[in-house]
Amino acid sequence: MAGFSDQPFRRVARLFGADEVVTELISANALVRENRRTHDMAAIHEGERPASIQIFGSDPAVMAEAARRVECLQPLFIDINMGCPAKKVTRNGAGSALLNDPKLAACIVKAVVGAVKTPVSIKIRTGKNHQSKTGLDVARLAADAGARRITVHARTVADAFSGPIDYDAVAQLRADLPQMELIGNGDIHSAGDARRWLERTGVNGLMIGRGAIGHPSVFSAIKRGEAAPSVESTATILQHIDWMEEFFGARRCIGPLRGHMMYYSKGLPDAKRFRQEVTDLEDLKELKELIARYFDQKKAAQCAA
Ligand SMILES: Cc1cc2nc3c(=O)[nH]c(=O)nc-3n(C[C@H](O)[C@H](O)[C@H](O)COP(=O)(O)O)c2cc1C
Repeated sequence: MAGFSDQPFRRVARLFGADEVVTELISANALVRENRRTHDMAAIHEGERPASIQIFGSDPAVMAEAARRVECLQPLFIDINMGCPAKKVTRNGAGSALLNDPKLAACIVKAVVGAVKTPVSIKIRTGKNHQSKTGLDVARLAADAGARRITVHARTVADAFSGPIDYDAVAQLRADLPQMELIGNGDIHSAGDARRWLERTGVNGLMIGRGAIGHPSVFSAIKRGEAAPSVESTATILQHIDWMEEFFGARRCIGPLRGHMMYYSKGLPDAKRFRQEVTDLEDLKELKELIARYFDQKKAAQCAA
């Protein structure tokens, strides 16, 4: 997820039971231009493998070249984003705009598959809107073009990030492509959500996005048959901060750290005051002390309740 699934967050997700992870979407154009920051986004830490790299773009030749450039990082899959509805992605014909042009989508898959030995996957939505389920056409053409895995966010582009999950569309895809590795995605926060997804669609695996922000232990909780705890342990949060510091450096990690603290504290008592204090402090050591104090108190209060 753009702005969240950076390397430190992916390491925490793996530590807490995610079987594999994927980078946020990375611009193929920027990779080909050798943009340093973009290359850092694709870097995979040994502790997060297996990890896939997701790229976006609309030019088959540029996408193929970007895939060639990241292949040496040994991703599990090179994943092609065909689901992002953000204007800055779709206005150039990439992301979910590809659902309007299944032939171009298939052409991109074919070019990337031809360029690398790494297996290629795609991430789609069910379609443009409920009248036009072109995601299913894109999936079939992508399978013919050599895609080895398809992840479906079971909503249309028009739905954005809310509204009911369209299990039937995914079940249809399952029936159409019985050999394809299918991964289901959307609104998974608990073991009950995961069970419903598996029973209603027959997908091979599940992807969790927003459910992991502020709750990285959701993966292990679901494997135990539970929902994520409302408060993560202080040790988890401090581990996440240490990895942010390692990856971004002590100064640059403060921005992402503040972002994650908004989510770790969501719904907790005194969250407003805590967030203000996190915003006011500039020193990483003081921030860590504040964060440890706050979450120790919340965990203790939760255990006592
Ligand atoms: C802030 C944010 C950033 C996202 N960035 C990406 C991305 O970079 N690549 C991608 O495939 N999906 C991205 N998504 C979509 C999620 O991966 C996922 O498909 C969607 O949120 C539904 O699943 P969820 O209910 O588990 O979050 C993003 C979603 C959000 C909310």
